[in-house]
Order: sequence, then C-alpha cells, then structure tokens
Amino acid sequence: MRRKFAAGNWKMNGTGEALSELNELTNTYQSADIDIAICPPATLVDRASEAASGSAVAIGGQDCHANTSGAHTGDISADMLRDAGATYVIVGHSERREDHGESSDNVADKATAAYDAGLIAIVCIGESLDTRNAGDTLALIGEQLAESLPDSATGTNTVIAYEPIWAIGTGLTPTLDQIAEVHDFMRDTLAKRFGTEAADAFRLLYGGSVKPGNAAEIFATSNVDGALVGGASLKASDFSDIIDALA
Ligand code: G3P
Repeated sequence: MRRKFAAGNWKMNGTGEALSELNELTNTYQSADIDIAICPPATLVDRASEAASGSAVAIGGQDCHANTSGAHTGDISADMLRDAGATYVIVGHSERREDHGESSDNVADKATAAYDAGLIAIVCIGESLDTRNAGDTLALIGEQLAESLPDSATGTNTVIAYEPIWAIGTGLTPTLDQIAEVHDFMRDTLAKRFGTEAADAFRLLYGGSVKPGNAAEIFATSNVDGALVGGASLKASDFSDIIDALA
C-alpha cells in the first residue's frame, strides 16, 4: 500500500542556525515507517542534505527550473538540487503560481525536469476562496491535475499535494468532508487518466494549516496519505508531533 509521507516546506525561512531544528528531527527519526522530508530554502539544501544523511529525513527543494542549465539568472535546475543532495522538489506551489505567474503547463515542465534529474516531484494544486465560494473547486482541481501532471507521472516519481490557498498560513482548514471530497475526486480523476492500479499508487497529501492539534483527524480522512506542512514544520517539536500522528 501507499507509504505515508510527512513533508515540511520551510518556504523563505531559515539560515544556517535553522539546521538545529533539522538536527533535532534527524536525531529523533534515525529510521521511520513513513517517509519524512524537509524542503528548506535553496541555500540550505546542501548543508541540510549533509546533516540529514543516514537518517530517515530526506531533503527537497522548493522549486526548480524546467531547463537543465542556461541563462536563467536566479533559477535553480533539478540537476543542481539533486547534486546538492535533494530527493524531492516541490513544484507548482500556489505561492510560486501567484508570485511568479507559473501556469500549470510550466508546472508540468518542471515536474518532467524533476523526473529527468531523478527527483520526486511534489506537485501542488488548490483553489482560492473565490473558487470555493463559487462552487468551482472540483472543476479547478480537475483542470490543475490534468495540466500540471505530465503523462509520465507515476506514483513513484510524483506526490500530489492538495493545498487550498485560503487555508495556507491562515489557521483555517476545510472541513474533513471537504478534504475527503477533493481527495476522493483526485483519486478518481487519476484513475480515469492512468488506470485504477496506477492511480492507487499516488500519494495524496493535504496542506494548509496542518498543526499537531488537527493532524490526526486530517490523516484519518479518506485518501489522505500525509501532509505538506508549512509553519508547523519550522519547529522540530511541532513537526515531530505531526509525524507521530501519521506514523
Ligand atoms: O506548502 C505548505 C503550505 O503551503 C502550508 O502552509 O503554513 O499553512 O502549513 P501552512
């Protein structure tokens, strides 16, 4: 069956001293029955990979360019992340889609670049509050899934994170029924495109204000295989509570 997965996205937070939180995590999770990852800022990927080496904590990037190299000032390729020790890369986070105008087509290209580099892509999708209030959530999720996932996506090279934009960093979360509705819909949508067996292999994460206090009930929700955690992944003690709720 699908291996549970707790991933932390540090976003634009953390300098070298934040590695003490990672060290606390790696000491706690020398081995684990679930997959665990921390995606620190790009400046820390190398050091974080070294610090986490030999533990159950894998390291990921937060974005990559669709090309392998070239004249793209400020960008980072999937190969570079892999070279720095990353196992994963987040692509299509709503903050990238918003701040950098990334389309789902861009996201699919980035996911393909991740596969080519041997990274696992964590592909993010999710609706705005306006979309939810208009009753268009499932239509949008279907569209984002169709366009953001390359045909070569599999449950091995791809993890999908459903992150309602209005739940990110707000302390708000959808009801458990709303989470289940979207996750069940994603599974069905994947089955229509890739077939049931292949669809069953994809891990579907929930993200958006996951905390120690709500993790267990979210993890008990239909088709939720783990979480992509922002703020609560910055403190090892909070993230450990979330990991323990999943394990
Ligand atoms: O990628 C994780 C994220 O967007 C959720 O952030 O702070 O609401 O857990 P947060």
